[in-house]
Amino acid sequence: MTHFLDIHTTDPAALRSIIDTARAIKNARAGRPKGAPDDDQPLAGHMVALIFEKPSTRTRVSFDVGVRQMGGQTMLLSGAEMQLGHGETIADTARVLSRYVDLIMIRTFEEATLLEMAEHATVPVINGLTNRTHPCQIMADIMTFEEHSGPIKGRKVVWSGDGNNVFASFAHAAKQFDFELVFTGPETLQPEAALNGLYTTERDPNKAVQGADLVVTDTWVSMHDPQSARERRHNQLRGYQVNTALMSKAKPDALFMHCLPAHRDDEATSEVMDGPHSVIFDEAENRLHAQKAVMRWCLGK
Ligand code: CP
Ligand code: NVA
Repeated sequence: MTHFLDIHTTDPAALRSIIDTARAIKNARAGRPKGAPDDDQPLAGHMVALIFEKPSTRTRVSFDVGVRQMGGQTMLLSGAEMQLGHGETIADTARVLSRYVDLIMIRTFEEATLLEMAEHATVPVINGLTNRTHPCQIMADIMTFEEHSGPIKGRKVVWSGDGNNVFASFAHAAKQFDFELVFTGPETLQPEAALNGLYTTERDPNKAVQGADLVVTDTWVSMHDPQSARERRHNQLRGYQVNTALMSKAKPDALFMHCLPAHRDDEATSEVMDGPHSVIFDEAENRLHAQKAVMRWCLGK
């Protein structure tokens, strides 16, 4: 079974081939209406379940549109409306869904839920974000970086802010795609210890971004963080806002990324988000192409 659960558990050659496929898929349908079918229809006759236990705009729409472009059909399931949200086990849910659909994408809270789904499903499972990781996002980000700035191998990526789930997938990617990753943020929001060795830390954001080819940030309060932590997090992270002054210390042609949704003028200013370094909407678009490539890889199509 070919699941796409995480970047560090996926072979680097497979990751590279997924990025190459994503670029080819994007180029092949350039200029077509969004609802127009791809020529090859690799998912014809296939049914895909999209399970969301957390909110989503990009992941939900990009998976749905991507499956339809490839000739497949989707079923959107909200965790709360499933028996899963009312006591049915993850294992039984996985076994049952595998009898109806050819592929499962799940966005959930605990990583254990994703892993249990994958263990018991007899169809491929894709990680659409957990509290710990967000691999589909980082596949789109690598694709976006390389479209604008060439190969990511050996380049310097600086993450400013919370050491969260999106950072974790960047850290996994740093090893698999062989780039340098620097974390700049407060000690209290340091990434989890399991990521040690995949990145370096520089507390001073102005020093951290020197020589950066890419500066990345994300929301200061993730969906799984308690709202009660909001004020404390804002106070801790204020000094790590990505603004024009910080971007001016990176390389002149450095890119700015944010997975979105953003809280404008908190983690990044609108001036940066809408400015010349920003590729945030290319990132969002590339979720579609990258995930189509991930689904094809999972299904061997
Ligand atoms: N970046 C991302 O995953 O966005 P959504 O939460 O809207 O899916
Ligand atoms: N870190 C964010 C990413 C959202 C796409 C969250 O988990 O809420």
